[in-house]
Amino acid sequence: MRLEDDTVFVTGAGSGIGRAAAKRCASEGAYVVVTDVDEDGGEETVAHIEDADAGGAEFRKLDVTDGDAFDEVVLDVAEDHGLDVMVNNAGVGHPPESMEDVADSMFEFVLDVNVKGVWNGCGAALPVLKEQGHGAIVNVGSLASILGLPKQAAYSLSKGAVLNFTRAIAAEAGPYGVRANTVCPGFTDTPLAEKFFAGQDDPAAAREKMEAEYPLKRLGEPEEIADAILFLASDEASWITGHGLVVDGGFSTS
Ligand code: NAI
Repeated sequence: MRLEDDTVFVTGAGSGIGRAAAKRCASEGAYVVVTDVDEDGGEETVAHIEDADAGGAEFRKLDVTDGDAFDEVVLDVAEDHGLDVMVNNAGVGHPPESMEDVADSMFEFVLDVNVKGVWNGCGAALPVLKEQGHGAIVNVGSLASILGLPKQAAYSLSKGAVLNFTRAIAAEAGPYGVRANTVCPGFTDTPLAEKFFAGQDDPAAAREKMEAEYPLKRLGEPEEIADAILFLASDEASWITGHGLVVDGGFSTS
């Protein structure tokens, strides 16, 4: 068991990649704190974990943009169960649009969740992790952390920020025994991806075109991203910090 006796905190764990990461970490013995704004989704993730008779889980409703609430939940969890791993996964996309057409409200929404949410999560977890002298943070970036994606300017800005912010955290927290890494997924088959395709003129054709652009000729599965998150969270990655692990079926290298 790679996370035996560890407590793993996952944001946005009521769906997609966050749910897969919560389940995968629990399957390796972790007690998982499943958080999300979506109560039904979060409770469903906990039920999956309980049904699988895995490490154990509880749901806490949390909006990652609320820094005070984040601090409160993390302190509470740390007191009850300890805290070993923070996975800042919650994130949102936006419809494909030229930069100059993106409404200020959309820009602010994307930055609020994708950047401030990760900032809040690290700010809440770091005092606990540094004080105890060990721990791992895994932030979820994107291919948009390393590539400038057309018609995804606000998303690219937010995810580029996540990657470089995580490097800064790694440099700051390393002397305290705390690691921080980013997973950068390519297009992964989740409700977020579904929403992206649904916004296109011909969703089925858009999906087919996207799949064809990947050397492996398919989108990623949330479980494949969860495996990378688990790796970076576990002691197998004990000398890896400040790294951006691209998991993209070869898209960025072809
Ligand atoms: P998803 O839409 O399936 O799940 C995201 C979850 O985050 C949802 O349960 C949602 O309720 C929650 N959430 C949204 N705003 C929140 C907030 N303010 N506070 C707390 N929870 C909130 O999306 P998916 O695909 O699982 O994405 C997860 C992460 O992976 C995101 O950061 C996304 O940007 C990133 N990603 C996804 C890719 C994809 O193709 N699906 C590709 C690259 C990165």
